[in-house]
Amino acid sequence: MAAGAMLPTLPYAWYADPAVARVEQERLFAVSWQYAARADQVAEPGQLTTAFAGSLPVVLARARDGVLRGFVNVCRHRGHPLCDGDARRETIQCPYHAWTYSLDGVLRNAPRAGREPGFDRESLGLVPVSVDTWGPFVFVNPDPTAAPLADALVELPALLADGGLDVDALRFHARAVSDEYAANWKVCVENFLECYHCAVAHPALTKALDVSPDRYVLETRGRLATQVGPPRDGGGGVYDATGEIERGQFHLLFPNTVVNVMPGRPNLSIGPVLPHGSDRTHRFLDYFVGADVDESWLADYRALDDQVGAEDRALVEAVQRGMASGGLEHGTLLPESEQLIAWFQTSVVEALGADTDA
Ligand code: FES
Ligand SMILES: [Fe+2]
Repeated sequence: MAAGAMLPTLPYAWYADPAVARVEQERLFAVSWQYAARADQVAEPGQLTTAFAGSLPVVLARARDGVLRGFVNVCRHRGHPLCDGDARRETIQCPYHAWTYSLDGVLRNAPRAGREPGFDRESLGLVPVSVDTWGPFVFVNPDPTAAPLADALVELPALLADGGLDVDALRFHARAVSDEYAANWKVCVENFLECYHCAVAHPALTKALDVSPDRYVLETRGRLATQVGPPRDGGGGVYDATGEIERGQFHLLFPNTVVNVMPGRPNLSIGPVLPHGSDRTHRFLDYFVGADVDESWLADYRALDDQVGAEDRALVEAVQRGMASGGLEHGTLLPESEQLIAWFQTSVVEALGADTDA
C-alpha cells in the first residue's frame, strides 16, 4: 500500500460478533498483562480482591507465606464463582457446597470427601494465573507462564518518570466505576487512541490542552501507544495545569490498559477496558494523586475528566449504533492523525491470527 494512503478500519462485524469476542478472549486477553487492582488491596496476608482479565474472572490473594497469587475465580467443583470484591480471610470457601481453599489455591476441605474413595484433593486446587506488580499497581495475565510484567511495560515507567511523575509517591484518591458502555471494547479503545475528535467533541479539554496536530505527539513502542500533549494557557481557566507535570501523557498498554497523566500537579489514572460480550464494555479508573495535592485542584481536575468521560460515552455508544446499522462494512482511517488506531488494529489482527483482508 502506498505511504499515506487511507486505511480501512477493521470490519464492523468484528464489533458485534460473539464469535470474535470469544477468539479475542482466547488469543488476546488470555495471554496479556492487564491492570487489575491496587497493591494496597492485597498488601497483607489474608487480603484478597477480585478483578477481570478480559472476560475471565480472577481472584488475587496474598497468602500467609506473603506471596501474592492469582487464580481463576471459579470453583473447581461445579463452577460457582468464589469471591466478589475486597475481603480479609484465611480461606476461600465456595458458597455452593463449601469446598474450601487456602489462599495459596490448595483445596483444603470438601464436605463428604472422606466418603469418596477416589477423591483427589491434590488435583483440585484453584487454577493459577500470573500476577505481577509495578509500584502501586497490580496486573494480571491469565497465562500462568507469562513473561514478567516489566517486559510488557517497556518504557512506560521511564516515560512517566521523565515526565516528572514518581508513581511510588502517589496516594490513592478514588476508584471511578463507569456504568456499562453500550459499545464494543475496541470502540472504546480506538476512541481513546485519537485526539482528532478532541477539538470537535471536548471543548473544555481543548481549552486546557494543546491538541493541535503539531503539538500533540503520537508514538508507539512495543505494546505501548502514547499520546503526549502540553497544556494550553496554563489550563485555559478549566483547571490549573501548571506544576511539576509539564505535559499530559495518555498511554494504552496493549490490548486494554489505559494510563492517563494530566499536566499540573502529580496525578495518574489507570484502568482496564473490559469486554462484556460483544457489544458491552465495563470500565473503571483508579485515580492517584501526589501526597500534597489540594482538594480544590482535585475537584477541578476530576470535573474535567468526568466531563470528557461523558462526552466520550455519547460518542462510542453512537458509533456502536452506526457500525451495527448494517449500512457499511467498514470505515476509513486517517493514516497520520489516526496512526495509533491503525497500530491497534494491526496488533489485534496479528494476535487473532486473522486475514487482514477480511
Ligand atoms: S460449586 Fe463450589 S463447592 Fe460446589
Ligand atoms: Fe475523547
